[in-house]
Amino acid sequence: MSFHERDIEVMIDEAALQSKVRALGAQITRDYAGMELTLVGVLKGSIFFLSDLARAIDLPVRIELMGVSSYLGGNETTGEVRITHDVSAPMSGRHLLLVEDIVDSGLTLQFLLDNLSARQPASLKVCVLLEKPARIQCKVGIDYKGFVIEDRFVVGYGLDYAEEYRNLPFVGVMRKIS
Ligand code: IMP
Ligand code: MG
Repeated sequence: MSFHERDIEVMIDEAALQSKVRALGAQITRDYAGMELTLVGVLKGSIFFLSDLARAIDLPVRIELMGVSSYLGGNETTGEVRITHDVSAPMSGRHLLLVEDIVDSGLTLQFLLDNLSARQPASLKVCVLLEKPARIQCKVGIDYKGFVIEDRFVVGYGLDYAEEYRNLPFVGVMRKIS
């Protein structure tokens, strides 16, 4: 048993994650054949998914990063989002694929889609590793989806609890708090 498996129950193991990422990469490669793609990863949660996905895509790919932070009202998000890190190049005329770790309420994704679409890209699609449909407030179309999961707080493969556990190679549920 690894160090982290004492605290975390595995929900999606490393092999399942890697095979799903390869399948998504193959599908994206087919869909964007002949085009130059820009992957826009959302900090920090998407970075492991982004780096594996980028290597599973057999096309010219550029990588950009956006950071966002939700304003909290108590423990709940207010739905207001602010940009903490912006992309480093013009997005106009580019084929953009937004890469996010998880869609929970959908508010972060909606904000990012509105923001990026205002920059007049050639196209804008969404790739999400995990979707938690139970808590959706804002229905956002997802073009490429890894896994639909139940409403539990998950960590690993980029996802954190108080900035910890992002480096787990699997997605799991915390034994103590869930
Ligand atoms: P949304 O705006 O409610 O869809 O929230 C999306 C963001 O909340 C994600 O990008 C994550 O950073 C975070 N988040 C939502 N659910 C979880 C979870 O189960 N574990 C870790 N982070 C989560
Ligand atoms: Mg995130």
